[in-house]
Amino acid sequence: MVDIIEDELFSSSVIKDIRVLDFDYIPNTLLHRDSQLQMLAQLFKPLLANIAQNAVIHGPVGTGKTVMAKTFCQKLVSAARAKGTIIEYVHINCRKRSTDAMALLGILNHFDSRFPDRGFSVQEMLEVLRKQLQRRNAQLLVVFDEADALLTKNRSDLIYDLTRFSDETSQERTPVSLLLISQKPVLSMMDEASLSTFKRSNVVNLGKYNRGELYDIIQQRVELAFTPGIVQEDSIDLIADIAEEWGDARFAIELLWKAGVSADSRHEKQVVPEYVRAAKAETYSVVTETKLRNLERHQLLTLKAIAKRLQNDGTAYVNTGEVEKTYALVCEEYDETPRAHTMFWHYLKDIESAGFITLKMSGKGHLGTTQLISLPDIPAEIVQHKVQELL
Ligand SMILES: Nc1ncnc2c1ncn2[C@@H]1O[C@H](COP(=O)(O)OP(=O)(O)OP(=O)(O)O)[C@@H](O)[C@H]1O
Ligand SMILES: [Mg+2]
Repeated sequence: MVDIIEDELFSSSVIKDIRVLDFDYIPNTLLHRDSQLQMLAQLFKPLLANIAQNAVIHGPVGTGKTVMAKTFCQKLVSAARAKGTIIEYVHINCRKRSTDAMALLGILNHFDSRFPDRGFSVQEMLEVLRKQLQRRNAQLLVVFDEADALLTKNRSDLIYDLTRFSDETSQERTPVSLLLISQKPVLSMMDEASLSTFKRSNVVNLGKYNRGELYDIIQQRVELAFTPGIVQEDSIDLIADIAEEWGDARFAIELLWKAGVSADSRHEKQVVPEYVRAAKAETYSVVTETKLRNLERHQLLTLKAIAKRLQNDGTAYVNTGEVEKTYALVCEEYDETPRAHTMFWHYLKDIESAGFITLKMSGKGHLGTTQLISLPDIPAEIVQHKVQELL
């Protein structure tokens, strides 16, 4: 058994440097974000003259908000340091630290990793922060990533407190600047008092990546993570095609990574398009899994009936009358009383809107109002298997 484990652990991989495919990895060059980086530099330029600034980054999932903020802030810190200005930069994930106290503790941990995680009020912690900054003669730049989590949990006073912090400390030259990141429009979630220091114009918007941009981002990771020639160009094209629908760079990188893993598990030395397809199917199965868990028992029984029919009949479509009969049989199998026709109809509609099946009119006339059901994305066998597990 030890051999199996060790063989696997030390087996060769098409992936030369797995860290490059990690979501936290920061590439040296960010692609297609020049104008937004330039805008950030413009907005935060006053920090070099010890004047605090606040800004917001908006954009949908996987558009590079986090990686852009990190890249920018690190460059800003080192550029400022070269000119003798000390900026302490702290990146707080508000999904993980969703209360004022937790977020503030995260900031204090930047200065003192042993700062006790209980026993201090927010006001006391703010005082500690002030002393830390004074001692270092430093300004503070806090990034509140996924800031909506902080704002929905507790109408955050922390954001207000930190923006006022600058007013009181300006003579001591320890201003505090904030950069909020969110998929949602955070400015509309703020109260008037906090809002007043966030100029409406200080918003950097990131749009979804288009196909060409996704191609370049994947190409960059391929060059960093794989030996030349391992990932076929067709595979990169296919990843860009698939990810284009979402415009999400994280999804694209995940496909690349999983395609590499798929090649490894088949002991192949090249990442061909088939492995990209396998990676896509696997990613979908995670999505399917979560969607299935959200279905209720009778919706699951209905779905099982559909899958069973389609598998047994070997057809692409099955009509609702047949499925209803099978549904009754499946109910019996699981000791459930079949629900009335109208309820059954609702179940069909529910699993249609959950995205498992499509319904269309039979079009043949002789079947009356009968509709045809199909299961376009997932093999019937897999559906049966998964549903069985949940029942
Ligand atoms: N322009 C880019 N160049 C290179 N890599 C990028 C670029 N944009 C995003 N990435 C990579 O894509 C992945 C997702 O980016 P990131 O985590 O910054 O997205 P996000 O907008 O913060 O998403 P979320 O809203 O889910 O937090 C990361 O691995 C990141 O390094
Ligand atoms: Mg992010």
